[in-house]
Amino acid sequence: MEQNKINIAIVGFGNIGSYFYKILEKNKKAISIKTGKLPFVKYISAKNINKKRRIKIPKSKWIKNYRSLVYMEDIDIIVELIGGPEGAAKKLVFSALKNKKHVVTANKALIAKYGDQLASLAEKNNVNLEYEASVAGGVPIVRSIKEGLIANKINKIYGILNGTTNYILSSMEKKNRSFVEVLDKAKKLGFAETNPISDLNGSDSAAKLRILSSLAFNKAISKNKILTEGIQNINLTDILYAKSLGYKIKLLSISEIIKNKLMERVHPCLILNSSYIAKIDGVLNAVVVDGLPIGKSVLQGEGAGPGPTSSALISDLCSILKGDINFPFGVSSSLRKKISKFDILKHLCSSYLRIEVKDQSGVLSSITKIFAKNKISIKNLIQKPNKKNKKASIIIITHENKEKNFKNLLSGLIKNKFVLKKPTFIRIEKV
Ligand SMILES: NC(=O)c1ccc[n+]([C@@H]2O[C@H](COP(=O)([O-])OP(=O)(O)OC[C@H]3O[C@@H](n4cnc5c(N)ncnc54)[C@H](OP(=O)(O)O)[C@@H]3O)[C@@H](O)[C@H]2O)c1
Repeated sequence: MEQNKINIAIVGFGNIGSYFYKILEKNKKAISIKTGKLPFVKYISAKNINKKRRIKIPKSKWIKNYRSLVYMEDIDIIVELIGGPEGAAKKLVFSALKNKKHVVTANKALIAKYGDQLASLAEKNNVNLEYEASVAGGVPIVRSIKEGLIANKINKIYGILNGTTNYILSSMEKKNRSFVEVLDKAKKLGFAETNPISDLNGSDSAAKLRILSSLAFNKAISKNKILTEGIQNINLTDILYAKSLGYKIKLLSISEIIKNKLMERVHPCLILNSSYIAKIDGVLNAVVVDGLPIGKSVLQGEGAGPGPTSSALISDLCSILKGDINFPFGVSSSLRKKISKFDILKHLCSSYLRIEVKDQSGVLSSITKIFAKNKISIKNLIQKPNKKNKKASIIIITHENKEKNFKNLLSGLIKNKFVLKKPTFIRIEKV
């Protein structure tokens, strides 16, 4: 390696890889002034190197066999931008670290699944494993927890970790449009992928939450089954009822320590209109870190897309250029112990329910009896009859109760002869 030049290989040249390269080329002088090292992209690889690309790359930079990069003496950093927890990305990152190459990645699926093993490998070989871009795009939450907030004992971390679902929910509310209409628009605008299932069903947020929990609480990445519910069943009707009651519906990812146990969950929540998080609309992400002595600290910004993601990738790259070799999860892997799971059935919350029923006499008392049987008390009840269809909607806000009792309540309601379909159940979160 020349004294001032650091050679980089980018593997994966899609949405993110190509934009990252463009921004890096544009900013390399500024980066060299700030870090004292000049980043030089020596090689680029992708699945099909003959594919027509929007950016012109000198032929000498393309390399077909990306696996050979890890053995090249003159490559210092490998930037993995392929994606996915297995296959090419996994092989590349494991073998790069084994061969003492620094790694930068935006791959949340890989880090959420293999982050512990990869971190141990990086520590053993004294190289960096950087993954700021894998959580909340341009929001520098990973480095904030590891560095800026290092003095704090974090008790809870939560927020909006998926821009696509936040865009959908806020557009439904603002434009009075159905889920399907807004999803179509999001695809056209490039805010949702052609197959957005991992965004919509909450699994993308859950992978990010595993990474954040591990960082915030200095624990191994949990292998627990996270309570994960997406937004596929959120109806415009519920958004409008929620609005009339002073709430917004947001897909929140929440991780906290309760009695030395970890509770992680991703699900739609009703949150008060006046709360800070309720104001995070569109594709924005926001993360709230609740700790001592800082109290609540909020970071917000664009959570995805080539620009914000490249900003995070360059920040990781600069950290390596500066020579900061750090523990990938802030503390040594040997100190990051497993943490047991809090029994989610004991989780306490109040809730919103919309129950579609036949409009007949005796319905209300039959329904409220099921609440009483499960010891769930009702705070607010609105009945909206639809005389034409001989149906009615019953909207209920409950007092706080255990998850277990809500589960039993729902099974009781589904069995009731007046209830027409599975009721909508959304937890109310105090944020
Ligand atoms: N898109 C976002 O907004 C965003 C935000 C944050 C993080 N990320 C993460 O960034 C990473 C890249 O995402 P992306 O949106 O850029 O994906 P993408 O557009 O699908 O690009 C993937 C790239 O990987 C290459 N590739 C696929 N399989 C390969 C293989 N077997 N060997 C070598 N190269 C292979 C593809 O090659 P070809 O070009 O030849 O097909 C393509 O260049 C993912 O981990 C993603 O989760 C993305």
